[in-house]
Amino acid sequence: MPDRGGFPHFMLKEIYEQARGVRDTVQPRLSPEGDRVVLPGIGLTDEDFRRIRRIKIAASGTSRHAGLAGHYMIEQLARVPVDVDHASEFAYRHPMLGADELVVAITQSGETADTLAALREAKSRGAKTIAIANVIDSTIAREADGVLYTYAGREVSIASTKAFTAQLAVLYLLAVYLAQVREAVTKDDLKRLIADVAAVPAKIETVLNVDFACRELAHKFDRARDFLFLGRGVHYAAALDGALKLKEVTYIHAEGYPAGEMKHGPNALIDEALPVVILVSRDPNDPESVLRYEKTLSNLREVKARSGRVIALAAEDDADVRESADHVLPIPPAPELLLPILEIVPLQLLAYHIAVRRGLDVDKPRNLAKAVLVE
Ligand code: F6R
Repeated sequence: MPDRGGFPHFMLKEIYEQARGVRDTVQPRLSPEGDRVVLPGIGLTDEDFRRIRRIKIAASGTSRHAGLAGHYMIEQLARVPVDVDHASEFAYRHPMLGADELVVAITQSGETADTLAALREAKSRGAKTIAIANVIDSTIAREADGVLYTYAGREVSIASTKAFTAQLAVLYLLAVYLAQVREAVTKDDLKRLIADVAAVPAKIETVLNVDFACRELAHKFDRARDFLFLGRGVHYAAALDGALKLKEVTYIHAEGYPAGEMKHGPNALIDEALPVVILVSRDPNDPESVLRYEKTLSNLREVKARSGRVIALAAEDDADVRESADHVLPIPPAPELLLPILEIVPLQLLAYHIAVRRGLDVDKPRNLAKAVLVE
């Protein structure tokens, strides 16, 4: 049996291993000069990458949420259109695929039956395939044309934490690599994008300082019956995973929703009993990020106006958020596309501490398995 290394649960240990997991995943893929991404084992030539017209991502659960963030990363940096699908849907809807399409299967275990079926379907239709997998030499890693391993290390807790942040990091590298090969960015931009991701592990160390605050929040919210998680753009992917983590380890009903969709129905749910977690961090140097932020901030104020209890994830110095939200969990500054790697950490910790407060089997939630080998 692997060792909990002094932590009370594997989930907490694995949350704390995320800076290392991201560093081990990123560092070996950056050129020593920090001006190129190198992806040995990718299984496709530069010419193949230049020819790709569309990317389809197929994955399940948390790995699909990473794929949703990858969607924003790849479209924004490399300007290649991306679709993301539940592997369980992809495999059975006769996907339209061809040789100029790339299918990326994302999986921690490398054995998920739905994801394996999606990969096999893609191969049978002549698409190129890449696996993003955490378990070395797993079935999906072996069957894909190429593999990009996440080096998060063995994940024991059923709730996936460190594999998710490593998946986000590897998807970012794939997006930068595509941009590099297809010359979609300048050399200076490339260097900046690489420096940005190299800086992430230290920021994960910083964000782990919210652990105590999350434990305090768990005292306040451990009896909640429902939770909402809201985010816009790439933050929506982190909101979805925050909701999934909470559901699976605390058994509290939770939903992730795009912040701008609230007015189309879910606003009716808001009352003083509903905790609403809003991801409202931003990159102050990026006008698009600031615009998105302003819209999400106004969503936050709408939730408050309807008596919701707001937990916001925002920059430490954000006075507007501090004034409007009930609780603020600080997120270190980072470029927009990398913020989900930081935002998910407090959401994992919140789920963890609520599960502990509720006396649940954190590492082995009921009815779940670490690798889902049935379709
Ligand atoms: C959630 C979780 C699951 C898995 C899903 C896919 O915390 O662990 O949702 O992400 O079952 O598993 P993999 O990534 O092994 O294909």
